[in-house]
Formats: sequence, structure tokens, C-alpha cells
Amino acid sequence: MSIYPKIRLWLNDRYDVATVEQFVDSQIHKPLPKETGFWHTFGSLSLFLFVNQIVTGVLLMIYYRPTTNTAFESVRYIMTKAHFGWLIRGLHAWGATLMILCVLIHMARTFFMGAYKKPRELTWVLGVAIFGCTVTFGFTGYLLPWNQLSYWATTVGTEITGAIPWAGQYLKTLLRGGEGVSGETLARFYVLHVVILPWALTGLIATHLFLMRVQGLATMVRFGEEKPIEKGHGVPFFPHHVLKEGVIFCLLIGALVTLIVLLPVELGEKADPFVTPEGIKPEWYFLSTYQLLKYFPKTIGLFVSLIPQVLLLLWPFIDRSPERNPHRRLWALGIGVVALVAALVFGLLGYISETTITWRGEKYELDVYAKPHKVCPAENGNAH
Ligand code: HEM
Repeated sequence: MSIYPKIRLWLNDRYDVATVEQFVDSQIHKPLPKETGFWHTFGSLSLFLFVNQIVTGVLLMIYYRPTTNTAFESVRYIMTKAHFGWLIRGLHAWGATLMILCVLIHMARTFFMGAYKKPRELTWVLGVAIFGCTVTFGFTGYLLPWNQLSYWATTVGTEITGAIPWAGQYLKTLLRGGEGVSGETLARFYVLHVVILPWALTGLIATHLFLMRVQGLATMVRFGEEKPIEKGHGVPFFPHHVLKEGVIFCLLIGALVTLIVLLPVELGEKADPFVTPEGIKPEWYFLSTYQLLKYFPKTIGLFVSLIPQVLLLLWPFIDRSPERNPHRRLWALGIGVVALVAALVFGLLGYISETTITWRGEKYELDVYAKPHKVCPAENGNAH
């Protein structure tokens, strides 16, 4: 026999259970617009991955020790000795990459479907803040294993703040906790990563979801002409949309486990402030900005790289046409596609820059701008 009636009776003697039940019922059975489909699952996927980051992050904290003498060793312990430590670290590291990917796809979906338009401007602005917090999560987390790559990528990354006019040097020292990247930086990044960002992101996501639930999902109808979806119309949230999300969750978990097993997260060598390794690159989601910065003097580059971010934040207030249907917003669609292609091209250039490739039997060295320089056979021989 179900135990729920007894619990309900007990609670009902003390609280207004019926009101809570009514609220939960109305939320579960809320109808969604008929356009709701596969692309609408990326918000929930991002949420699922955020929960994954919190759970695995808390588990990692049991063994992780954030000092320059212990950080690297504690991660090595997690990877080699702690039970399922490799799996937990893999879920956390690959989960971060997939979360950023899902957030980006979700952002592109709401952009192309015009969901940011009135009355959902704030949902979008909060989304941009969420995106900023998510990549900062990635940036601060990257330093924590205290290996060569993470140490030098953080050195390069924090150096950029120094280019901000007037306040740059102060901000750089504030971020690093001194002149260079040191134990002070590790402590600051750790506090940001495990306390400040998780709480900030929890608050932002909760408000984002609250607004989304109160206003409902956008339809393809021009703003001002939207009508509430009547009962019996649209797609029921439960079980239809929830089941679709369940299928996508299973695929995501499959992808996550496959990545962890086939491409295990490496640890590399312990950070050495006196040895600069070659080919220091940031994580993939910073590659396009990193490459863009190379084509300009420092301060100008910083401003140029800020332009897309400011445009992103203010976009709902710039694009004020009432149309949502992508077929009737061709110029907005064009801007979105150009921005995506530019990010991909700069990202790719950043990825292949400062590497050596072989093409049609010839060896080429790619410089910082990814421009190829043929390696003549004599040099080729020396290289061996
Ligand atoms: C961890 C990050 C995020 C989570 C957990 C999240 C969650 C969600 C969920 C569950 C929905 C409803 C279903 C859907 O459209 O997928 C939604 C809607 C929305 N999100 Fe996000 N979101 C995140 C980040 C973002 C970002 C970065 C943006 C844009 C910059 C954004 C903008 C929007 C907008 C405009 C809507 C309304 C969509 C509509 O009415 O059709 N979100 N979000």
C-alpha cells in the first residue's frame, strides 16, 4: 500500500497541502507552444549539466587541496587512488565542456527563434550573465590542477586584464593576488570556483527559470499578438516534453561516458614558473577571442573583443522589430550566421596557430596568425 496518503494526511493537519498540490499540478500540466521540440531541450540539458558540476565538484573537494604544494598531487591521487576518482574528474571536466556547448546551442536557439524579444528581454540579459559566469567557471577551474598548461594559460589569460586603461594593473594584481600567478592566485580562483560562482549561478539560473515559467515559452507569433495557450492545445509539458527531454538526457549521458573513456582527462606535468612550455593555448571557448586579440595592439584588441559581448547583452534592445519568425527576420539571421562563422573561423585559426602541419608531403610551420611558412628540407632534417 502506498505510504503517500498517510504522509499527506499528516502534512494536511499542519499545512495547506491542497494549494501546493494545485500549484505543482498546474506547473506539470502547463501546455507549451506547438513549436516546442528538440531544440527546446538545450535549456534543461544545461541545467542538468550544472547539477552534474555541483555534485561532482563537491565530491572532488573531498580530496582536492588548493595549495601549490598539494594541488597537483591531490588531483593525481584522485585520478589514480581514490575510488572512481577518474570517473568523477572526467564527469566534471567533460561536463564543463558539454555545459558550455549546451549553453551556446541554447543561446543560438533563442536567438534564431527571436525568443529574446519583448516581453523576454530580461530572460535574455540574465542568460548572457549566466553565460559569462559559465565561462568564468571554466577559466577558474582550469588553474586548479596546477599543471604546466593551466599555470601558463592563466598567466596569459590574466595578463590581458593588464591592458585595460588606468585600472588594468590594479585588476591584474587583484586577480593574481600579487605580481605573478602564485599560490595566492590559486586560493582566489578556488574561492571563486567553489563558493562565489556556484551561488551566483544558482541565483541567476533560478531567476531565469522563474521568468521563463511565468511568461511561458515564446511562440512564432509577432510580439503583442501572443495569446495564452488554452488547455488542450499546444504540447503538454508532462509527459510529452519531459519524455523528449528524458531521451536526450540518456544520449547526453552516453556521450559523456564515451568521452571520458575514449579521451580521458590528462594531468600533464606539475606547474613550473621557471619553464615556459611551447604552444600555450586557452580552452576551446576562449580560442576565438584569443586569436582576435593577436591582430590588434593590446588595449585596442581588448575593446574590439568586448564589442561582440556588449552587442550580445544589449541585443533585445537593438533588434526591436516585432517579428519572431526567422523567415521574416533575414537581416538578424544574417548577423547571427556571420557571428557564428566568424567565431568558428577565429577559433580554428587559434587552434592551428603556432603548430606544424604536413600538407601534400610538405611541412609547414603556422605562425601566431596561423599563416603557413614552408619548412625547407634542411630545417626539416634538423628538426628530427
Ligand atoms: C546554465 C545556463 C542556462 C540554463 C540552465 C537555462 C535554462 C532555460 C530553460 C530550461 C528554458 C526553457 C526551455 C528552453 O528554451 O530550452 C530557457 C529559456 C530561455 N533561455 Fe535559458 N538557460 C541558460 C542559459 C541561457 C543563455 C546563455 C541565454 C541567452 C543569452 C538564455 C536565454 C533564454 C531565453 C531568451 C529563453 C526563453 C525561450 C523561449 O521563451 O522560447 N538562456 N532557459
